[in-house]
Amino acid sequence: MITVNNLTKTYGKFNALRNISLEINDGEFVAIIGESGSGKSTLLNIIGQIDFPSSGEIIVDGENTVGLDDKETAKLRNSTFGFVFQAFYLEPTYTVYRNVEIPLILKGMKRKDRKQRIEEVLNSVDMQDKLKNKASNLSGGEMQRVAIARAIANNPPIIIADEPCGNLDTKNGDVVMRLLRDLHEQGKTILMVTHSYEHSKWADRVIKLCDGKIVSDEKNN
Ligand SMILES: Nc1ncnc2c1ncn2[C@@H]1O[C@H](COP(=O)(O)OP(=O)(O)OP(=O)(O)O)[C@@H](O)[C@H]1O
Ligand SMILES: [Mg+2]
Repeated sequence: MITVNNLTKTYGKFNALRNISLEINDGEFVAIIGESGSGKSTLLNIIGQIDFPSSGEIIVDGENTVGLDDKETAKLRNSTFGFVFQAFYLEPTYTVYRNVEIPLILKGMKRKDRKQRIEEVLNSVDMQDKLKNKASNLSGGEMQRVAIARAIANNPPIIIADEPCGNLDTKNGDVVMRLLRDLHEQGKTILMVTHSYEHSKWADRVIKLCDGKIVSDEKNN
């Protein structure tokens, strides 16, 4: 479970996040919506330990993350969160296989176990036939599927997806949404930013931000 208490983020005099408090339960699929600049990415990045708050607390599975040192933060981030971004952020010169392998190497997994896990996750996103391709030669939809494979390689309980379909056409966007829904059905917690009303309907719950504040937080039925 994630608990956010009175979170603020300021840049000089500008308040990107103002007093955000919320709880996210294990296994929830939460969509975060709101206009450009409302603070969605800032909130996700702070929850995912990529960025730090100006004040407030983020408690992940009972552990208060504020006050952890860099090493502890990295450890928590790598074991807890998998990230999927609008711009994919694959390493373009590496193969598909190598891109998924990196987090497993960082985790210290042995080569043989890595091979098995890479094949498993690439299968789950239907990219097993392209594991030798260079990432830069893939289509956008394929890149995002590889990015999802990389995000889940370490089997993190929480997937953070910031506009995962933002650079995809409708067909590939739906493929990515189905993969996220499958992960949700397997018990993962999903935090997803979207600009699509249609995609927000796939979530259990929709949180709307406006000017760094939560203006609505509603369950989908
Ligand atoms: N490093 C920074 N320095 C100054 N201002 C920043 C910085 N990072 C973000 N901001 C500001 O904080 C606000 C929230 O940014 P954020 O990226 O969270 O918005 P967003 O809701 O994700 O928008 P979008 O839908 O366009 O991605 C914006 O006004 C942005 O300009
Ligand atoms: Mg954003």
